[in-house]
Amino acid sequence: MKIRYEQCAPAARKVQPAPGEELGFGIRRTNHMFLAEYKDGVWQDARIVPYGPLCMGPGAMCLHYSQNFFEGAKAFKHADGEIYTFRLDKNAERFNFSADVLCMPQIDAAMQLEAIHRLIDIDRDFCPTQPESSLYIRPFMFATEDCLGVRPSNEYTFCVFLSPSGPYYTGGFSSPVKLLISTSFHRAAPGGMGASKAGGNYAASLRAGQFAKKSGASQVLYLNTANTHIEEAGAMNHFHVLKDGTFIIPPFTDSILRSITAVSVLELAEQGLIKARQEPVAIAEFIDGIKSGEIIEAGGVGTAAVISPVGSYLLEDGTEITVADGKIGKHSRFVYEHMTSMQRGSTPAPKGWMQKVPHYPHTEG
Ligand SMILES: Cc1ncc(COP(=O)(O)O)c(C=O)c1O
Repeated sequence: MKIRYEQCAPAARKVQPAPGEELGFGIRRTNHMFLAEYKDGVWQDARIVPYGPLCMGPGAMCLHYSQNFFEGAKAFKHADGEIYTFRLDKNAERFNFSADVLCMPQIDAAMQLEAIHRLIDIDRDFCPTQPESSLYIRPFMFATEDCLGVRPSNEYTFCVFLSPSGPYYTGGFSSPVKLLISTSFHRAAPGGMGASKAGGNYAASLRAGQFAKKSGASQVLYLNTANTHIEEAGAMNHFHVLKDGTFIIPPFTDSILRSITAVSVLELAEQGLIKARQEPVAIAEFIDGIKSGEIIEAGGVGTAAVISPVGSYLLEDGTEITVADGKIGKHSRFVYEHMTSMQRGSTPAPKGWMQKVPHYPHTEG
């Protein structure tokens, strides 16, 4: 793939993260972004250009009918000074799955990886090194045709930018959160687009999130639309741990995102490192399991926080159910530490999980 490169002018360059600096999550940017447009049935004008505003018509279809989606991945600087991305091939695969759900064009996975690795290479000095930090990668696609008909757009933009980020929760692997078990709000429905990373899924979750906060919880534990089974924990997959240390994750359906972190936990189990399996989780049995002590830990899994332990669940009638002693459990801590240690290169990762960002020759023009 031919990728044009336009270097950021010195005056427009962003401040690089300083060692030890508090970066926040998703706030900072790097000097460049990747762009390509889809027009006349082909992707064209792939380029790495200075990070800056995007231009589109007020009638661009993404602004009206939300034909857009995104991905989220991370890169890490290892002790050898090189930068490694974590399971980016899985993000590329899910990117094309989301594109399919939203009637948008595919982008060859190898092309996605090259675009992202080239962008990271150019801005490699922005990869932070402080504990629990990463270079967060945000690829996304949106419909740009200026037209008011409700139909798939004929034109799209693919963009990638990077964000030098600290831990999702300030202070890192955080104290356990409280989740509201909501029977009033649902994130996704069978036959809908919940398994994709459509922007609309996240817009739909905002009101539920606010409702959770007003109720004194940090996020919603989403149930299926029949209110019988657990689906997701806010913008994370849900897990719980049985007394014998087994992680239980609800099976992926068309209303649950196929979390790359959850898939990784399941793959660690296949390798015999932990015990984990997928099975449907009835909410009534889940609550009984916490009360009886059969369930000893619970939480969310996802790229942003890796593992977010849940200390208690709040029912809509105000009843609070505490998981064991409400503190971070040893199984959650082990998975968090093992995953982050692989990501930082301190523990060997399974083959292909970490990919070294190549050093490319970059010439302008
Ligand atoms: C709805 C939802 N579920 C689960 C996840 C976790 O997925 P991953 O582990 O791929 O980040 C995310 C975040 O991407 C999400 O937005």
